Parts: sequence; C-alpha cells; structure tokens
Amino acid sequence: MEQIKIIGAGLAGLSAAIHLAEKGISSTLISFQPSERAQSVMAEGGINGAMDAMGENDSPAEHAADTLHAGCDLADPEAVKNLTDHAPELLEWLVRLGTPLHRKDGRLIQRNFGGQKKKRTAYAQSSTGKVLMTALIDECRKYEVSGLIHRLSHHEFVSLSVRDGSCRGVWIRDDHNGVIFFLPGPVIFASGGLNGFFPGMTTGTTANTGNAAAALFAQGVAFANLEFIQYHPTTVQIPEKRMLISEAARGEGGRLFVERNGSPWYFMEEKYPELGNLMPRDVVSREMYYVMHDDSTERQVYLDLRGLSKQTWKEKLADLREEIRYYLALDPAKEPVPVSPGIHYFMGGIFVDKFHHTNIGGLYAAGECACQYHGANRLGGNSTLGAIFGGKTAAETAAAEMSDFQSGETPDNAPVWSENVPLYAKQLRDVLLSGLGILRNETDLKKAAEQLDSLPMPQNQMEINRRLLAKAMLLSALERRESRGAHTRTDYPDRDDEHFRNTSIVQMQNGEIVHHFAAIGKEVNND
Ligand code: FUM
Repeated sequence: MEQIKIIGAGLAGLSAAIHLAEKGISSTLISFQPSERAQSVMAEGGINGAMDAMGENDSPAEHAADTLHAGCDLADPEAVKNLTDHAPELLEWLVRLGTPLHRKDGRLIQRNFGGQKKKRTAYAQSSTGKVLMTALIDECRKYEVSGLIHRLSHHEFVSLSVRDGSCRGVWIRDDHNGVIFFLPGPVIFASGGLNGFFPGMTTGTTANTGNAAAALFAQGVAFANLEFIQYHPTTVQIPEKRMLISEAARGEGGRLFVERNGSPWYFMEEKYPELGNLMPRDVVSREMYYVMHDDSTERQVYLDLRGLSKQTWKEKLADLREEIRYYLALDPAKEPVPVSPGIHYFMGGIFVDKFHHTNIGGLYAAGECACQYHGANRLGGNSTLGAIFGGKTAAETAAAEMSDFQSGETPDNAPVWSENVPLYAKQLRDVLLSGLGILRNETDLKKAAEQLDSLPMPQNQMEINRRLLAKAMLLSALERRESRGAHTRTDYPDRDDEHFRNTSIVQMQNGEIVHHFAAIGKEVNND
C-alpha cells in the first residue's frame, strides 16, 4: 500500500503525519522549508478550546456559536461543531505532548480573545505557535526514528498527477539538486495561506508563495470563498512585511483610540459597549478604516497598552513588549503604539467538505490552504486549532480510504519546472490590493481584473497559474454582491442571506475560470 504524502510541514501537516503514525500508517512529509521555519511558528496569541479553565461556564456549543457568528453564518455548522467539540481533548493532547501552555498552580489559564465572551484561548505569552510547533516537531521525531514518518525538507511540490478525476501522487523537486521525481500515493495538502500574493503586505511569511495552491487551481482543484481575506486590526509596516501586534494585547486590556479634538477617542468602546476592542476582526478593521479616513482627514489609530499591569507584561506579554521595543523603538508600557489593519489570514482556499475531501479523489486539504471552519471571518485562536484539527481529520479520512487508492502506472513524463520566484510579484500584489481592500466595489474590482490582464505576458507555467488564481480571487469578490464579514462592498452594503448565504466556488473548467455558489456544507462527491 502507498504511503500518504503530505505537502507542508506546519501545524496541519505535522498533525496529519502524527495522527497517521498513531494509527501505524506511514507518511512522507514534504516541505519547501523545515517545520522550524513554517509560518505556524509565527502564530502568536493562542489556541481556542472550551476547557472552562476560568470557571465561566464555557462550553463547546458556545465556542461553536461564537465561531459561526464571527464567520457571519457562512461556515458549515456541522464542521464547526466537530471542531469545537474536539477542541478540549486536542488541548489536553497538546498538554500531554509537553506543550508549555500558560498555567497557574498546575492548571491551564485561558485568556480573552476577539469575538468571544468567554476566556477560552490557551497561550504561551505571545509565542504560542512556537511552543505548539516545538511539541509537534518533537512528537514527529519519535515517529521519524521508528520509520513511520519520512521527512523530505527542502523539497517542493511541482504538480499533482491526476487520472480519471483521481489523484495518483505528486511530482516533487529536490531543491538541493533540482531533480524532479514522482511519489505515488494519496495526498494531504497543508501548504498554508496565500501570503506570497501580497509580498511585504502580510503578517505571514512570503515563503508561503502560493505557488503550490496556484498549481492545484490550474489543475482543476476547486477553491472556495477566496474573497474573504482577513485584515488583522493591529499591524505595523516594517521592512518587507507587516508586524503583528497580537490580539492578545487587546485581550489583556489594550484599547484602540484616535486623537479627536485634542483628546483620545476610544471609538470601539463607544460604538460596541459589550465587546469593545474585542469585536471580531472584520468589525474592528472596518471601524478603524472609517475613523482613519473620517472627514477626508487621515488619522492615526493607536493601541493604548499603558494601563496593563507590570504582572501582565511580565507573565503574559513579555515577548510582545520586547518585539515592539526592538522593531518600533518604543516601549508600549509607556507610549501608545501606532497601528493599522494588515492582511493576516485567508479564510478561503481549497474547497473541502467536513471530512476534508477535495473535488479530486485521493486529495485532501487542511490548515490555512483549505477553506473550512471560518466562514466570512475567522476568530483569533481558531487558526491554530483549525490547523491541528483539520490535519487530524484529513488524516483520518485519508486513512479510512487508503484501501481504495490506486496509483496505477508511474506517469512517463516529468512536468517542466518553472523558476519559483515570480516575476511581477509586486505588480500583481498592487493590482490585487486595488480590488481587495477592506472596502470594495464593482468598479475597482473590474478595473483590477482588467489591469491583471494587461500585466506583461506570463513567462512560464508558474506565472500563468498565479495569474489564474489571482483572477479567481477578484472574480469571487465581484460575484459576491453583498457585504458579509471581511468582504465589504460599498455598492452592496447589506448582507443578503437569500442570495449569498452560500459558498462561493471557483474552478478551472475547459481552460476557463468558472464561478458558482453552492449550499453551505455540501459534501464533495469525488467518486
Ligand atoms: O493576534 C494574534 O495573536 C493572532 C492570532 C490568530 O490569528 O489566531
């Protein structure tokens, strides 16, 4: 029987490999960068799970309700229920693996995070991704030693081999020597988000080029909800990227303000008395945009952390304080931090059902590259959870279906390799940004699509694939003629459940990008 091939070695990929290994199933973990450099390492604020560690009568049902509400009712309720029901046991599993999540007197401590009334985000200062990844890498090593996990770091996905609508395996390039070879077997995709489409403008690493996702798209893999791009409210432009100021800072009492008539205006607290600065991210970013551009005056929004206690800084946010001091040359305990919204997360991605099937048999997807759990806007703390749970679920589905897998003969011809550093990356980014900002409208989106077509001719297959996926993002945003979550259309300012409470799906068919809406939670039948 063929081993399962996993593309990507961040939280979702590691989780898939470990959960397969726990069942005695071997896998090959293929990644451009080693796990230690995966985007997941950079996750800051925490991981959600209704443990009720703080004695607030929290429950998985309440976690599900908050997730669906923040996602503006666009996520699949059954998938979300699976996620939130399993979150407490996943947190316990992580603790058993030795993840040093914050504790007091031996008990887990949980913090407030955006869009949630209960404290359900477990954390390690603002370096939660590091400790989660360290624990999973360690666990993975155990299985590497026993031969159940085989690692191919510095290897790149080239293309999928698909025959009769089913995945037969993957073509991989060894980045050390440039050799391209074929690996048969079912494939779990866990390649992360599309940061590489927005170089310099995201909190994520642009080492996540998006090339693998673009290659899949060009090969006919269906993508969903690409219009939903999360702008995190508190980011700061630094050279080559946007620095994230974790939502944990607001979870621990940080307040957003602008100067108005000579005094600070804590606009979120005034407008949203219940959750204030901890409203879901789409709401906070939109409100920031409005106050920043009010009366055609450009205003700076500040994050005020001066009220946090010494103990909070020391026990909960020491690393964040150090980072702000280092990168911005200011002490956030003494001075407000100038912030603005920046691209942080892609709710859309490879279209999967609740079992993490894609539309191609034998191909599964999990983590940020897949569209699942988050609807129109993700809750902070649900990405780390969604990646680990998604990886586990994809592994379980792939394991259950392994005996149906047929690799057939090894394909004769290796695909042609295109240089992986995209030309015109910044032009492509600027075109996308001109259509896919916090506020959107038909004129800008159509103009962006025309500009995309007028960029210099793509030089190779990788460039062609990227253009296609970029076009699919714009088309998805154009077709959703309503405002919902992270997609605010000034020309369609209302939410329209009757026509658009559906999943937006794009796919290549006969050389054309085809878009349609499908019922939420539709199971993918790829027999
Ligand atoms: O603000 C943050 O720490 C980000 C967390 C997340 O995106 O889940």
